[in-house]
Amino acid sequence: MGSLRKDFLWGGAIAANQIEGAWNTDGKGESIADIVTDGAVNRPREITPSLQKDKYYPMHIASDFYHHYKEDIKLLSEMGFKCFRLSIGWSRIFPNGDDETPNEKGLEFYRKVFAECLKYNIKPVVTLSHFEMPYHLVEKYGGWRNRKVIDLFTKFAETCFLTYKDQVEYWMTFNEINNQTDYTNDLCMLSDSGILLYGLSDKEKEEAMYQAAHYELVASAKAVQIGHAINPNNKIGCMINMTPQYPATCNPKDIFQTQKAMQRRYWFADIQVNGSYPGHMEAYFHNNNLRPDITPEDKITLKHGTVDYIGLSYYNSNTIAYHDDNPSFKFSGSELNVKNKYLKQTQWGWPIDALGFRYSLNWLEDHYHKPLFVVENGIGAKDTVEKDGSIHDPYRIDYLREHIRALIEAVTEDGVDVIGYTPWGCIDLVSMGTGQMSKRYGFIYVDSNDKGVGSFRRRKKDSFYWYKQVIESNGSKL
Ligand code: BG6
Repeated sequence: MGSLRKDFLWGGAIAANQIEGAWNTDGKGESIADIVTDGAVNRPREITPSLQKDKYYPMHIASDFYHHYKEDIKLLSEMGFKCFRLSIGWSRIFPNGDDETPNEKGLEFYRKVFAECLKYNIKPVVTLSHFEMPYHLVEKYGGWRNRKVIDLFTKFAETCFLTYKDQVEYWMTFNEINNQTDYTNDLCMLSDSGILLYGLSDKEKEEAMYQAAHYELVASAKAVQIGHAINPNNKIGCMINMTPQYPATCNPKDIFQTQKAMQRRYWFADIQVNGSYPGHMEAYFHNNNLRPDITPEDKITLKHGTVDYIGLSYYNSNTIAYHDDNPSFKFSGSELNVKNKYLKQTQWGWPIDALGFRYSLNWLEDHYHKPLFVVENGIGAKDTVEKDGSIHDPYRIDYLREHIRALIEAVTEDGVDVIGYTPWGCIDLVSMGTGQMSKRYGFIYVDSNDKGVGSFRRRKKDSFYWYKQVIESNGSKL
């Protein structure tokens, strides 16, 4: 079928809370990301509702993009970026989330960032909510469990659509909205939904998740409608984490368990793309005595707020097995995981599976028939700065090469419609999962360590030059 489209959106992706730092500068309010400590591969990050002096909170400093954005965007332009995915920190715009008026300095910051992108013909691709809400909304409203947060979010969304009407056309509503499938995971529930799980039973956690997710889906649908009304040229997507589930064996029980896992992880996209709850979710609610507050008006909102494209992240596949003590084939997250002996793993234990990426793109095309935008992909790895300042990162180039090849095959061999590719953390930033700076994804190295100590000087890695040539050749020189 040929090659990638000529206007293919090559770029890279970041998120406000993981890169900006300046957590309480120019009127920014405390966000849920600001109350999470650092961690490591075997040491989970801690959530501390009040900040503790003896703990380190990596998002407070991050990569200091707030003060480095001009040089960072210049470097992206040197690589030939066509687009740059970033998010708007909600608590920079509405410090408490329920403020009457927005914080002008917060609005101004992103105005300047977008202007800098446009100066180099780089299109901003903006996520409204990337694992970040004002912490005040957690304290006062209980996060997304509260219907009132829908209006607070849509006010934020409307403010952004209006303010950046002439600067931004590509938007996404909620980052990886389906991560909360894993509803017993504290960090997933805080980052997706602003929910602190303390003292809840598993049943209550599940109820909280389905309620919060429903309100987010309604808010997302309202934001899509508002965004289209403000600028009919806006292209507004959802953003889901695509981790295809593989059956451990050809035992029909493993296969069926896998199907249930996929349903449980992707019903979010069914709603955002098709505008209604799939039958299997209605049945699940009924059979599990779950009664989320879903009104007839909500159903109409969902119907009219479907997305223009599917934004997705892909890092790895996941393999699961049926357990005899789970005859109803329930799936909520990692409890069914088994190791896939065919796949190598990253230093952080994530399976490396480029063919799984092609499989994922095909799966999404088969299910949704919508343009796909790959807005995250990449490998977290430790980098070494040589004496002469160079950084050799062949592992990163290998990973990205294989994944870009898979993407191109999905387009050219399988006919999947992919509009762009923005690998994750194109400038080094703080890892979401572990809070480490040393888990690096970037083409651009940022001199800072896991405790935020360093010069914050930027350096080009070998992958910087490699990716430049990939973009220049529209993917033909890998
Ligand atoms: C995605 C998120 O889950 O994966 C990012 O959207 C995150 O915010 C990325 O950083 C990589 O995960 P991690 O844990 O390595 O930072």
